[in-house]
Amino acid sequence: MKLASFGTRVDEGPFLQEWAKRTGNEMLIFTETLNEDTVAKAAGVKGITCLQTVPYSAALFQKMADMGIKFLSIRNVGLDNIDLEGAAAAGVRVSNVPAYSPSAIAEFAVTLTMHLARNLGQVEQHLRDNDYNGAMHYMGREIGQSTVGVVGTGRIGREAIRIFRGFGAKVLCYDPYPVADSDYDYVSLDELLANSDIIDLHVPGLPQNTHMINADSFAKMKQGVIIVNTARGNLIDTKALLDNLRSGKVAGAGIDTFEFEEQDLLNLEKKGSLNDPVWDEMMQMPNVVLSPHIAYFTATAVRNMVEFSMENLMGFINDGQAKNEVQAKAEATK
Ligand code: NAD
Ligand code: COI
Repeated sequence: MKLASFGTRVDEGPFLQEWAKRTGNEMLIFTETLNEDTVAKAAGVKGITCLQTVPYSAALFQKMADMGIKFLSIRNVGLDNIDLEGAAAAGVRVSNVPAYSPSAIAEFAVTLTMHLARNLGQVEQHLRDNDYNGAMHYMGREIGQSTVGVVGTGRIGREAIRIFRGFGAKVLCYDPYPVADSDYDYVSLDELLANSDIIDLHVPGLPQNTHMINADSFAKMKQGVIIVNTARGNLIDTKALLDNLRSGKVAGAGIDTFEFEEQDLLNLEKKGSLNDPVWDEMMQMPNVVLSPHIAYFTATAVRNMVEFSMENLMGFINDGQAKNEVQAKAEATK
C-alpha cells in the first residue's frame, strides 16, 4: 500500500523507512510541510502521516478529500494548529499521538527547573568571564524544600508531579478536570500562583488558554518565583514575563515553548535565527533558559511518534478506526 509522510525530519527518516520495510508498504517521504499545494505529491496514497507546526487548514482537508485521501495521522501531541472542523467538513479523519513519551517532556521541564534553582546560568556567565570567584556566590534552592505548582495534570503534568514528588517537593495542582481518585493537592489557580516557589505549565495552547499567565497572574505570585513552560508559547504573556524578570519578581524562567517561536518551527534550520527582540533580550538574561521547543526530542519519543502514528494510520485504513482519533468536539473541552 502506498502512504506518504510529510514534514519528515532527518531523525525520523530511518524509523519510517524501517517501518515501511517491516510492514511491506511503500512510503513516500517528503521533508516539505503539508499544505494545499504540497499535498499534490501524495497522489494515489491511502493516507498521510505528518509532523509540522504550521496550520493544517480547511482548504488542505478539502484538497485531500478531492484526491480521495481520507486519513491524516499526525506524529505529535498538540492539536492547536489543526482545523478539526475543516477536517470533519471534508470527511477527513485525523489522529494524533497523545503519549509518545510524556516523561520526555516532564524530564525536560524538571531539567530547566533544576538549572534555574541552582543558578547555573549565572554561574556559567561568570566562568565564561574568567570570574571563578564570582561564580561561587549563587546560593541555590532545593527542589525538595520547594512548593511546586503544576498547572495541567494530564499525561505530562502527572509525570512532572511524580518526578517533583520524588525530590520531596510539596506539589500543588490546578486543572479544571482533576484526576479522579488521585492524591493530588488540587487548589484554585490563584492559590497555586500565590503559594508556589516554582510554577510548571502543562496545559494545551488552546485559544481559551492564551495568556492564562499574564500581568495579573505575575502580581499574585511569590517574590522570586521560577516559572517553566514546556507546553505552548501562547500560555504566557511574554512581555509581562519580561517586565517581571526585569523587576526581579520572577527569579528565573525556563521557556522551551516561546510565544513568538517560528511558526514553521521544525524547518527553522532552513531559515536561520529567530530574530525576535524579546527572545534576544531574554537570551541575554542569565536567569532565563531558553530552548527551541525540544522538550519532546529524545530517541524514545521520535521512535514512538513514528510507530504510534503509523499504527493509527493503518488502523484507519484497515479497521476503519484509529486508537487515537481526534475530533473537534473533544478538543473543545480539553
Ligand atoms: P493532556 O491532554 O494529557 O493534558 C492536558 C491537561 O491540561 C488536561 O488534564 C486538561 O484538563 C488540562 N487543562 C486544559 N486547560 C487548562 C487550564 N486552563 N488550566 C489548567 N489545566 C488545563 O496533554 P499532555 O500530554 O499532558 O500535553 C500537554 C501539552 O504539552 C500539549 O497540549 C502540548 O501543547 C505540550 N507538549 C509540548 C511538547 C514539547 O516538546 N515542548 C511536547 C509534547 C506536548
Ligand atoms: C507536541 O508533540 O505537541 C510538540 O509540542 C512537539 C512537536 C511540535 C514536535
